[in-house]
Amino acid sequence: MYRTGIITLSDKGSQGLREDKSGPLIQTMLETVPGFEVVKTIILPDDMDTIKAKLIAWADEDKLDLILTTGGTGFSERDWTPEATIAVCDRLTPGIPEAMRYYSLQITPKAMLSRSAAGIRGKTLIVNLPGSPKAVKENLEAILPALDHGMKMLLSAGSAECAEPLK
Ligand code: MTE
Repeated sequence: MYRTGIITLSDKGSQGLREDKSGPLIQTMLETVPGFEVVKTIILPDDMDTIKAKLIAWADEDKLDLILTTGGTGFSERDWTPEATIAVCDRLTPGIPEAMRYYSLQITPKAMLSRSAAGIRGKTLIVNLPGSPKAVKENLEAILPALDHGMKMLLSAGSAECAEPLK
């Protein structure tokens, strides 16, 4: 099972002033996919150092396989999730946000406003999703078909079977 953590970035959510619908939605969607187990969830304020510290702790100490974040990818002055993610990753995986924006742009032009990033720290894949439940659903739909194969490549000693058709 891929041990997965979900971080919701929201100043209001972290103070209990707004219900977090996006984190639970990610969990519900992942639970329909074989192989993914959500083991940690947290709501954090949009603070770069706080986000970086949690990503590092979950990757290095808790050894999670996958961390999905939601929120903080837009243009507001408190949106720093992509920068925190890029700062802690050893290698970026630009194809993942490219796929999310390609898929999402066919639904709404506002998709271009998400600056989401994704990358690898050690053996942990970190992917930023935008904040609204609608955006979470559409962006996760875009990446779920290939996510399992990516996780297999990341976690296997050799390379995964790339020639096999996707299920
Ligand atoms: N992507 C999809 N698929 N659907 C959406 O509705 N909303 C966009 C964008 N990506 C959206 C989307 C909007 S309106 C914004 S501002 C950005 O994501 C950034 O969102 P965030 O700041 O909540 O992370």
